[in-house]
Amino acid sequence: MKVHVANHPLVSHKLTVLRDERTDSPTFRRLVEELVTLLAYEATRQVRTIEVEITTPVTKTKGQKLADPRPVVVPILRAGLGMLEGMSKLLPTAEVGFLGMVRDEKTLEASTYANRLPEDLSGRHVFVLDPMLATGGTLIMAFHYLIDLGATDITAVCILSAPEGIAAVEKEFKDSKVPITIVTGALDEKLNEHGYIVPGLGDAGDRLYGVV
Ligand code: URA
Repeated sequence: MKVHVANHPLVSHKLTVLRDERTDSPTFRRLVEELVTLLAYEATRQVRTIEVEITTPVTKTKGQKLADPRPVVVPILRAGLGMLEGMSKLLPTAEVGFLGMVRDEKTLEASTYANRLPEDLSGRHVFVLDPMLATGGTLIMAFHYLIDLGATDITAVCILSAPEGIAAVEKEFKDSKVPITIVTGALDEKLNEHGYIVPGLGDAGDRLYGVV
């Protein structure tokens, strides 16, 4: 498994504003969108392309276009939805599937409550959007789901990650034949006793959409 931690002043600046408890929801949503677009640049580094021939106003030349089948972007509901717009800016022709997963706040275990995905993901590069990689439970379950559907490559885009979550995902998929990459805006210090990332930014879903 590959882990890429963004090391960029613009990402650091936007993350600092995002973490601040005084940042309101509209600003938080805009920053998440901008951060995902920056992270998507790195996350799509291995996306498959094919060579095509085109004619410019000056001459014929060869270029690259996204290969078929197109990538699939899968936001994990609810908080991953706040990342979709930022990802779609870079991959407007990707298909979008949805996975609804919820974490039991006592056991910290993830369970699936909804899914809308292509039945066959063979040959597809799947980009999973989940802002907070905390215990790793949600991503582990999501990755198994996608691998069972035939996903060929999986890349997760996370705004923040905890070392415990990265280690759990790494352990679970150490023998996986499907290449897995995690691209994250920052690797934080630890998880607290409630499973929250420290220093983190609080509950990403609540900060995006309010407490419901
Ligand atoms: N989910 C969140 O929204 N925040 C955390 O810190 C951990 C999991």
